[in-house]
Amino acid sequence: MPVPKTIRRFPRFTDLIAILLVSCTFVACTAGSGEGLSVSGRPLSEGGNVPLAATLASIQANVFDPSCVVCHSGASAPLGLRLDAASSFTSLVGVTSRQAGAFLLVAPGDVDRSYLVKKLDGSASEGEQMPLGGPPIPESTIDFVRQWIVDGAPPDSSGVPGQPPVIVSLTPAPDSVAANFPVQISVGFDQDIDASTINELTFTLVRSGGDGQFDNGNEIAISAPVSLSASNARLALMDLAAVSPVDDRYRVSLLGSGPNMILNVSGVALDGEFAGSLPSGDGTQGGDFVAEFEVQGLQASLPSIQANVFGPGCAVSGCHSGPAGPNLPAGMDLSSAGNSLASLVNIASVQVPTELRVASGDADASYLIQKLEGGAAVGARMPLGGAFLDQATIDVIRVWIDNGASP
Ligand code: HEC
Repeated sequence: MPVPKTIRRFPRFTDLIAILLVSCTFVACTAGSGEGLSVSGRPLSEGGNVPLAATLASIQANVFDPSCVVCHSGASAPLGLRLDAASSFTSLVGVTSRQAGAFLLVAPGDVDRSYLVKKLDGSASEGEQMPLGGPPIPESTIDFVRQWIVDGAPPDSSGVPGQPPVIVSLTPAPDSVAANFPVQISVGFDQDIDASTINELTFTLVRSGGDGQFDNGNEIAISAPVSLSASNARLALMDLAAVSPVDDRYRVSLLGSGPNMILNVSGVALDGEFAGSLPSGDGTQGGDFVAEFEVQGLQASLPSIQANVFGPGCAVSGCHSGPAGPNLPAGMDLSSAGNSLASLVNIASVQVPTELRVASGDADASYLIQKLEGGAAVGARMPLGGAFLDQATIDVIRVWIDNGASP
């Protein structure tokens, strides 16, 4: 398998414009001259006036730090997008937009596919122009962002020479609690990583099994594709799109020790130890990275709907609590995920025998939905006597049904 060891370089077709734009400052002239700049540019200076240039360090100092990090930092950053200096590269380059999934936030070499630019110049299809609530960034400044992308969106430095690679960012953030199940897990490193060492043995995810505890035997391993991003050799991704969303506590592990471990392109092992703050590591190579996050809230899966709706709202004593049988309400037994599945999915309604309680794949044709939304031909809206479920909750149940009402 070909290993993308460095950020790919792209033709610099807007060089002429860029040189016209930036010809007046020393740093910018260096930027226009090509060779060597991309991977070497250390932060230009700490604080003070950093000249505008088509480098991440300059964009960080002139755009992200003054105008964005007030919102886009920490665990509650909007859409998980963190733009502080430690996170901006790995949060942007090669990362899919949460808002407009057809775009990357920054697609190296491709300004038109880079959603960051659209959010800055006001041409984004969704949401507001950034910075939210502030004056727009001047076009002449956005041009430096465009040029950095045309140049391949290189990082500022290649880690500390001779030091082992460390993890600089994790999304979802360590110890965060999210209402929505993440579409992917992204892990940022400070150096280019050997793609062949990012695999299902070295980058793993388990959930606690519902008790919030690990190492007590009931954890559930999640199998999902993992890879090093094709456009950013410092970004490892786990694709969760096909994983059934369940609210639980999750543990992410990346191995820096043992028979299978993550190496940089020079074969140096991950310095992974993590004690609550990033970057990881204790200064010597080796050591596993282990961090946890939580998903809390109704997800479109039976375990989650059972825990959040059927269990507390329907299976209460005297209602849908079993034993299973022809008599309502007990006979429609919703007291466990297994019983709910057996009582609902592709089972005819007793009240309207021509309807299925849950018609797998078709929420509109499911009598359960009519009972929850109040449109059923017979009997009362559920839960009997209220409080009725809000539409957002019913919509999650609809998604579970439309997706096939699986266990
Ligand atoms: C006042 C808070 C605030 C500030 C300041 C702010 N943002 Fe945002 N940003 C948000 C919110 C809220 C959203 C989601 C809603 C929206 O897009 O309107 C968002 C969304 C985004 C997105 C879309 C992310 C995705 O995954 O699709 C990008 C990109 C973005 N912001 C970049 C920036 C940049 C760059 C700056 C600084 C120039 C900035 N933001 C400043 C609050 C802010």
